[in-house]
Amino acid sequence: MMIRFNPSEFSNCSISQNYNYDRNGIFLYKNFLTPAQLLNLNFELDELFSRPVLNHNHKASIWLNNHYKSISSPTSIESTNILELAVDVFHLLIPTHEIKKTIITHLNIYSEISNSEVPWHVDRTGHQKVSIVLKGGSKDSGLFSYVPNSHSINHSIGIKNLSECNDGDHILTGSEVSNLKPYAKEIYASPGDLISFNSLGMHHRGKCLQERRIIFIEFQSIDSPHGKQSIDINNLKLSKKVLDNLHIFFPGKEDTYFNYGLDCYKSLVNYLPSSVMKFATYVFFKSLISRVLKKFLFILKK
Ligand SMILES: [Fe+2]
Repeated sequence: MMIRFNPSEFSNCSISQNYNYDRNGIFLYKNFLTPAQLLNLNFELDELFSRPVLNHNHKASIWLNNHYKSISSPTSIESTNILELAVDVFHLLIPTHEIKKTIITHLNIYSEISNSEVPWHVDRTGHQKVSIVLKGGSKDSGLFSYVPNSHSINHSIGIKNLSECNDGDHILTGSEVSNLKPYAKEIYASPGDLISFNSLGMHHRGKCLQERRIIFIEFQSIDSPHGKQSIDINNLKLSKKVLDNLHIFFPGKEDTYFNYGLDCYKSLVNYLPSSVMKFATYVFFKSLISRVLKKFLFILKK
């Protein structure tokens, strides 16, 4: 595939606090969350990320592997109405003329720790993606890098990356990566900041030695043929603000679901990360010891 690449296009990209999304393919919005919102959210999430979904305990986290977790029911979060937050992000980023035809196609909260980098790639389908940083986001905690303007390039796609069901991420050919890398910008976003990027631009996520925690949102056109993740909605969070904007949670074409994002993990029903096994073993023995002690005390009292 031909690469239309003109280095002079990139030299004018200034690193200001706010990039221009349409022009540069990336936008940084500082302090989207207030310090109090951030504190309360992280306090609640610390608890939810500390335990995997087991039996009756469904408000917890899904441990996708030993380094990557997702909140099981993000729209049930108590400290912030995540649906209202998604409405705010939508109106912040989506131009008026696109409001009626744009929907949210991914809404989740992720935590990564001791995870390796995601190499330079583009998401072939080129959606507008949003990360609201809750923790990390700097060197050693998932620093995000992006080549401004590279969303308008006809990329040279190499091998398909990541899982088979992922309808998007592709490693670029080595020559394209080395051509574009000198123009990459490290996007230092602090907790509370929002990064929005056009995923057709070349991007990279640095290693996560320390935790990187984000709220992740994706937008697509309602008639887009690309993969979408379904969104479970907690009815207790259907406030007036959410109901007034309910159209943004409408589904797209039915056949574009079930094979994208977390919906893909259904194919891994027999996979159990060792961290979940350790946790379950700990809970099992703790409960066993407690039951044995209770019985022992009961016998002693007799
Ligand atoms: Fe990506």
